[in-house]
Amino acid sequence: MTSADYNAWHTPVLLREVIEALRVKADGLYVDMTAGGGGHSAAILEKLGCGGKLIALDRDREALEASDKRLSQVETEASYQLIHASFSEFPSCLEEEDRRLDGLLADLGVSSHQLDRDERGFSYLKDGPLDMRMNQDKGMTAAELLADISEEELIALLRLYGEERYATSIARAIVRRRELSPITRTTELTSVVAHAVPSKVRRLGNPARQTFQALRMAVNREQQELAHLLHEIPEIMKPRGRVVLISFHSLEDRMVKQAMRRWQSPCECPPDFPVCTCGKTPLGNQLTTKPLLATEDELDDNPRSRSAKMRAFEFLGGAQ
Ligand SMILES: C[S@@+](CC[C@H](N)C(=O)[O-])C[C@H]1O[C@@H](n2cnc3c(N)ncnc32)[C@H](O)[C@@H]1O
Repeated sequence: MTSADYNAWHTPVLLREVIEALRVKADGLYVDMTAGGGGHSAAILEKLGCGGKLIALDRDREALEASDKRLSQVETEASYQLIHASFSEFPSCLEEEDRRLDGLLADLGVSSHQLDRDERGFSYLKDGPLDMRMNQDKGMTAAELLADISEEELIALLRLYGEERYATSIARAIVRRRELSPITRTTELTSVVAHAVPSKVRRLGNPARQTFQALRMAVNREQQELAHLLHEIPEIMKPRGRVVLISFHSLEDRMVKQAMRRWQSPCECPPDFPVCTCGKTPLGNQLTTKPLLATEDELDDNPRSRSAKMRAFEFLGGAQ
């Protein structure tokens, strides 16, 4: 396959910036927590040499198959391993001897491939089963979630994950509709949402975008998964280990920003204490005080990079 074919599967965002920030050591151990189509993974593997190793992880089996194809074509003396797992199984999904990392990348959210495949049910533009699970082996589908959730919980979910202004009327319309028959197709949900919002909103674009985003985040427990990952990262990084995180949602970016601030300034003493008594010393330094965004050139090539925000951190002495 050519790189254009790979990019049709998923174009990696902020690729140059990620590789610069990771500062890959040829004999280092790196984990890509979100292998996807293997774009970032392949670029990391190309930088690795003798003694180096890349672990590419994803909870989507189709992503691991695509990554395997791509990584097997990289000419390198380094090795790679694929792991089917979620952030919440990290780091126990790694071999004991692989739990001291030189670098970790997580490029959050969904891949273009997941959105493009009708049968995965992620897209409000295509008809398919209302599934939305990144790992199709387990968990509740979006249809099952919609069948069970209370109206109040649905309103809260649409507000929090979808930042949906019409959360109340959309939730009410969904509850009314499911009393007649279950909502099982993406197009059924799109139509319910379209009828629940004012016509002026329909004229601005597809009004189901935020509802689909909110359901996807809930089905895949994306916020909880990220919280787990952020909690585990400091335990597993080597001295000078680098972490790069890319988010596409303000809630996720806030979580990443707060975690990196905490790692840099973990002291819990009241600000008026003359000396620190909690004993919590800095774990490292932020490499980005503000998130890095895609350049105009990248935006032209890949409009999906518009909402990407990248933050990077370097650990000093590993776990303390
Ligand atoms: C934006 S894509 C990554 C694209 C990849 N960087 C590339 O270059 O092709 C996000 C990927 O992360 C995976 N993913 C998202 N959340 C995950 C989680 N909690 N655990 C494991 N994989 C996850 C998704 O299945 C998806 O394949």
